[in-house]
Order: sequence, then C-alpha cells, then structure tokens
Amino acid sequence: MHEGTDFGFVALREPEGRIHIVELCEETRKVKGLGVLNPTTLLGGVNIGQTVQIGSKELVVLPLRLPELVQGMKRRAQTISAKDAGLFITKLGIGGADTVLEAGLGSGGLALHLARVLGRAGCLISVETREEHAEVGMENLQRAHIAWGEDFPEHHLLIGDVCEQIEIAATEFGGYDAIILDLPEHSPAIEAASPHLNIGGRIACYCPVSSQLEAAWESCESAGLTVEWAGELMIREWGKATRGGMRPVNGPFGHTAFLLVAQKIQ
Ligand SMILES: C[S@@+](CC[C@H](N)C(=O)[O-])C[C@H]1O[C@@H](n2cnc3c(N)ncnc32)[C@H](O)[C@@H]1O
Repeated sequence: MHEGTDFGFVALREPEGRIHIVELCEETRKVKGLGVLNPTTLLGGVNIGQTVQIGSKELVVLPLRLPELVQGMKRRAQTISAKDAGLFITKLGIGGADTVLEAGLGSGGLALHLARVLGRAGCLISVETREEHAEVGMENLQRAHIAWGEDFPEHHLLIGDVCEQIEIAATEFGGYDAIILDLPEHSPAIEAASPHLNIGGRIACYCPVSSQLEAAWESCESAGLTVEWAGELMIREWGKATRGGMRPVNGPFGHTAFLLVAQKIQ
C-alpha cells in the first residue's frame, strides 16, 4: 500500500457500513464475510480512501480507528459498547497517566475504549478467569496496539479471579485511579478492590439486571465508598424518513445494563 496506509491492519467498509478488518499480510487467507484473498495483492498500490472490488462488493479502505476496531472486533463474551464505555470514562474521569483495572476482559470491548483514552502515558490492567475469553480480548487489543502504534498504554493481562489478582497487582502497580467491574457477581470484587483504590478514585459496576445493581450499591456502602451515580443510558437514533424529514429509526430501543459509580473519599 502507499504512504499513509502503513497500519498493519486496515478496515474495509461496505456501502451500508459493515466493517471487515484485514491484516496486511502476504499470505492468501480466508477473511470472514469476504472470502479467500491475498491482502498484499488486493491492496498493493491502493491508498486509504480508495475503493477496492472483492467479488460483487465495493469496499472503501479506511484506517483502523476505534469505531472500526469495535465494529470489526472478534467477539466471544458479551461486550460493553461505546454508549456505556463513554459514561464510565467520563464519570470516572479516566485520562492519560491513570492506572486502571478492569475485570473481566472478555472480548475486550471496554478495554479498547480504555486503551484509546489512556494513550501512551496510562496503565491498563485486565483480569480474566477464562483463557479462551482472554485470547479473543487480547487479539482485539493487539490489533489496536498495531493500529495506534506508540499511542497505547502499558497493558497487563492477569489470568485468574479478580479478588486474588487485584491484591497481587496492587503490590506491583500501587493503587488504582479507576476500577471497572463487568462480572456476574460484583460484591466480592468490590470488597477486595476498595482498599487498593486511591483516595478520590472511583469504582464502576456494569449490572445487566437490577438485583446486581442493588447488591453492588450495598457492597460499595459496606466497603466505605460513596455511591455517586446509578442509572442507565438509553439512546434513540434518528434517521431520514422515506418521505422527507427526520424521525426515530425503526429498531430496538434496548436495555444494556445499569451502571453504578462510587468514589473513595477517605
Ligand atoms: C461480560 S464479560 C466482560 C466483557 C468485557 N467487559 C467487554 O467489554 O468485552 C465478563 C467476563 O468476566 C469474566 N469473569 C467472570 N468472573 C470473573 C472473576 N471472578 N474474575 C475475573 N474475570 C471473571 C468472564 O470469564 C467473562 O469473560
């Protein structure tokens, strides 16, 4: 590919917006949704923004930015999407030079958003019990690392239960500025995490059902944390109506999870 396209990976965008992530390797291989192709032959001499033809599909070559990475990511466990990741990042005040712990890594949906905002000065620690989930999450993070180059945080994957790993990692990394828990059961992790949260730091829980939200709230209070905010985000997308004007698009108006944010004040 020509200059400006030295990314290791590119995104190929179908006209309707579907994204395929393609590794720029010399070997002929099967790319899901596109068939068997040789990326070097296909994309040799093609610049970012240009169109390539694969079978009957016309695809635009784009760089791998966060939205393309998320759209084209490999998935195993259920992921946290931009809607909820964005709230976590702003309400927890996460930025460069922070040390952030997340559990579980799963497919790395949240980790991709955290890595983007932490950048090169930050440190991200991901904990995951299941190796097969971690493999998928790490593959997605690896793509991001290649695509973003040095603008990527120091990243550590810890395999094991978060309650044990949080203790072990705290001795190595010092305290945490932010902790985000996306687990079936938050209470033991909140108890284990709160001593290692820096003063002023925050913990967040992602709770698909309201019983998890209630348990997380109570556990934060028992651990001496101050619950700052709990709730859910609903977004309603609008589009162009066929007969003119704009209106909410047809489609699900769905629930993802209840979110809780608590701060360590003392
Ligand atoms: C819903 S997924 C996380 C998805 C991830 N946040 C994302 O956005 O892609 C929950 C993950 O937590 C892991 N998990 C469950 N219990 C755990 C524990 N006690 N410690 C660490 N990870 C755990 C599961 O294996 C699973 O991969």
